[in-house]
Amino acid sequence: QSNMVKVACLGAGYVGGPTCAVLALKAQVQERIAGWNSNELPIYEPGLHEVVMQCRGKTLFFTTDIKKAIQEADIVFVSVQTPTKKTGIGAGVASDLTYIESCARTIAEHSESDKIIVEKSTVPCGTASVIQTILKANNPKGLKYQVLSNPEFLAEGTAIDDLMNPDRVLIGSNTDAGGLEAAQKLKSLYAAWVEPSKIFLVNTWSSELSKLAANAMLAQRVSSVNALSALCEVTGANVSEVTRACGMDQRIGKHFLQASLGFGGSCFQKDIQSLVYISQSLHLNEVADYWRQVMTINDYQKVRFVKRIISRMFDTVTHKKIAVLGFAFKKNTGDTRETAAATVVRLLAQDNANVFVYDPKVKEDSMLFELRQGVSEQEFQQIQKKITHSKSVLEACSGADAVVICTEWDEFKDTNMNYEEVYKVMRKPAFLFDGRLIVNASKLSKIGFQVEVIGSASSQKHDTRFYKEE
Ligand code: UDX
Repeated sequence: QSNMVKVACLGAGYVGGPTCAVLALKAQVQERIAGWNSNELPIYEPGLHEVVMQCRGKTLFFTTDIKKAIQEADIVFVSVQTPTKKTGIGAGVASDLTYIESCARTIAEHSESDKIIVEKSTVPCGTASVIQTILKANNPKGLKYQVLSNPEFLAEGTAIDDLMNPDRVLIGSNTDAGGLEAAQKLKSLYAAWVEPSKIFLVNTWSSELSKLAANAMLAQRVSSVNALSALCEVTGANVSEVTRACGMDQRIGKHFLQASLGFGGSCFQKDIQSLVYISQSLHLNEVADYWRQVMTINDYQKVRFVKRIISRMFDTVTHKKIAVLGFAFKKNTGDTRETAAATVVRLLAQDNANVFVYDPKVKEDSMLFELRQGVSEQEFQQIQKKITHSKSVLEACSGADAVVICTEWDEFKDTNMNYEEVYKVMRKPAFLFDGRLIVNASKLSKIGFQVEVIGSASSQKHDTRFYKEE
């Protein structure tokens, strides 16, 4: 018991919660007290409930007693949020480090023994050194602090599996003896279930930059595919065929090449903006422009999808009922941050459609919270009047002129959902816009739907409306 490593984790969101749950399960780590103690955990992740139930109260504890948690820990994980700044210098691009700084100050205030601080939040490069500076400046007892960067690569919806079987674990440290020793200590925690060859020790800057780089490169893949999808729609090429053909080249690889109505989530946009901001601050304007373009294509894709919807529905959606299926930024999560669906819903509502949204995991208040982002209170009031949160697919689709698929939930696949029934309850012509490439267009066309899929030409070949440029 006495030589068991104790880990405290500051932050219990999408990274902190699952990471510590798996750590507790695999590494038999001792942590402190109560918190996530109900049967309905604050976030949804496949497999998370089971892991938490197995460890909670034994090796996994949730607490609000931050002082005690810090004092007892040998290692402190910091996984608090670092949202993009909304106001002030760097608004819209720079990360807000308020929570990170406050963690560093809290750690300094309560520590009574040497600590290893592990930065798990995605942060701008140089943050580890900021934490180190704050700790150094507030260290009356002369404690030894080592700050490590250990970015989390889990994706939402697959968090537990990603944590159990990571492609790599990246640990960044100072390259002096103290830094390397701390890195080894953290490595030994992961070594309980991760092959040593997959644990990669690097310097702090490399680690911090790699996290931004990995997300930027993933987002760039999606924007590349989505840029091609626009080209496919006007030429008759089919984006699924194009991406399959490209992905079969092993140098390109087949993963993460799915065309969509645009990427969302709390990471991609924020991390690209962070990369743009660093590049700009260092006067690397061409580099900033290069990464900014990934976002430009993403914004373009969302708007383009809505333009296609309106254009195909005889150039007007005023007073038409539109069923939006899926609001989460991807399947298997209830997270709505930066979801492309919000842009779609807002634009349709602003064009006077009556939008009915159904999502198996998204609650009404999180939907409304996300819709409120980036618009004035007055605009939001107008939008809100046009939006209803539906309890079922049929409720959303009944009397609707169009179904718009925004999230690739399995239950929306044509193999799982009864589209004949949906078709029956809709107004005719019944449109179906697939923003996720999950339905078989020819099968649904046979039922009677006018199907429009991202990345392939309009089903109405004679209709030139869609090609018009504004
Ligand atoms: C991402 C990274 O994958 C993860 O490694 C990092 O730790 C956090 O950011 P996450 O945001 O949870 O994870 O989800 P991800 O699966 O990457 O999807 C992001 C967005 O891209 C989603 O909206 C998704 O629908 C979209 N996407 C993804 C596509 O449109 N096409 C694809 O081929 C893949």
